[in-house]
Amino acid sequence: MSSNSRGVMIVQVKDVSHRFPETDLLYEHVNFELETGQTLAVTGPSGSGKSTLLSLIACWEKPYSGRVDIRKGSRVCWVFQNPYGPKYRTVRDIASFPFIAHGMPRPQANEKAEETLVEFGLKTRIESLFCDLSGGEAQRLMLVRAICCEPDLLLVDEPTAQLDMRSAHQVADSLRLLADRGMAVVIATHDPFVWQSCDRVLNLEEYVPLVEEGVHALA
Ligand SMILES: Nc1ncnc2c1ncn2[C@@H]1O[C@H](COP(=O)(O)OP(=O)(O)OP(=O)(O)O)[C@@H](O)[C@H]1O
Ligand SMILES: [Mg+2]
Repeated sequence: MSSNSRGVMIVQVKDVSHRFPETDLLYEHVNFELETGQTLAVTGPSGSGKSTLLSLIACWEKPYSGRVDIRKGSRVCWVFQNPYGPKYRTVRDIASFPFIAHGMPRPQANEKAEETLVEFGLKTRIESLFCDLSGGEAQRLMLVRAICCEPDLLLVDEPTAQLDMRSAHQVADSLRLLADRGMAVVIATHDPFVWQSCDRVLNLEEYVPLVEEGVHALA
């Protein structure tokens, strides 16, 4: 499915608790739903399980209890914390690759990629090599490449981790743009610039189990 419309339920997280073998519960009774057109920030201190929650939503990890339902046929795309790409390929090549991989002729793929790059403020970098991009530009290129895959659900892990304030603002604006294009976007972040611009915020600190001294949660 490629909905590209707003208000379609994509993900339902129902009473999820999670722990890894041999570790304490990270969180319990997490519940939320997300529709296309909405952004959700997942916040919490380092080690609180933000990236793990993205893995649960992507079904890479199975929750210890509870369930995660993704709308059947949804395309899910993940943007990792560290921008990654072939050093000596141009921004245009990297952005057009998903279209070419889906069988679109190169001239048309380049045109579609360029439209999206312009929309995300990368017009002046279209001819640049990946290795010459700033951290913020590289992160925005990762977002452009992800949306060229036309996902219904986008999972983004710490998109502004190594960015200055200006670049962080630009990335936050880009994330809003993605939701406005009809995607559901979940962002793991501890950056106020990012979470303040999201529709909803899920603070994992609020889901840490209360453990009585000497008693192991769910033991
Ligand atoms: N596969 C695994 N096996 C065991 N423990 C794990 C595994 N993956 C993560 N953890 C642990 O689970 C906890 C949560 O990790 P996670 O990476 O989700 O945190 P985070 O909130 O994303 O942190 P950060 O802000 O540093 O990115 C950490 O204590 C981590 O060491
Ligand atoms: Mg993380």
